[in-house]
Amino acid sequence: MAVDSTTFTARDVMRDAPVIPVIVLHDVAHAVPMARALVAGGIRMLEVTLRTPQALACIEAIAREVPEAVVGAGTVRSSADAAAAAGAGARFAVSPGYTSALGEACRGHGLALLPGVATASEIMAAQADGFDALKFFPALQSGGSAMLKAWAGPFGDVLFCPTGGIQPSNAAEFLALANVACVGGSWLVPAEALAQGDWARITALARAASQLQRA
Ligand code: 3PG
Repeated sequence: MAVDSTTFTARDVMRDAPVIPVIVLHDVAHAVPMARALVAGGIRMLEVTLRTPQALACIEAIAREVPEAVVGAGTVRSSADAAAAAGAGARFAVSPGYTSALGEACRGHGLALLPGVATASEIMAAQADGFDALKFFPALQSGGSAMLKAWAGPFGDVLFCPTGGIQPSNAAEFLALANVACVGGSWLVPAEALAQGDWARITALARAASQLQRA
């Protein structure tokens, strides 16, 4: 999917589908068939976490070989992570928390950033730097849908992607909220499906996720 990095924003990442898959890859050979399986199920925004030594090579392979997808990097914590992700071909970054240095680095590298927040002060810090499409992390542990409802008043101009503890069984509760654009979750790409090369299972999980209703 071609994106124009001068206009592509975190809101574009969050609005494309109801779920952003949080992906952990240990084998570069899995990257391309997995990405194609997700795209076949209607999920194009793919967050590959920088949690394994193979993550950057996986991002590179998807960026090169799966043009229908938009690959991003997850677990981006430092300016160096942002530089490496952009160098590998990521178009967006997702971070567990927020620092101004990270915001600046992502801007400098043309990466749309979904900064992680869990408190009102963190939302205010991200907003002060111009970020208003945020990841709520870890969502379940930090107050879940009740927290998002409480934030809708003072932060009515912010859109959230809750992540952490979201499953098919509770996704609807989050997606029903007006300030939730999408949710993040690792359930679309189970480790055993990767190990078995069960791409059909990943496509089926993606298809079900892409059909979840949003507010
Ligand atoms: C993570 O940190 O791995 C993400 O928040 C995904 O969490 P989940 O496994 O609960 O979906």
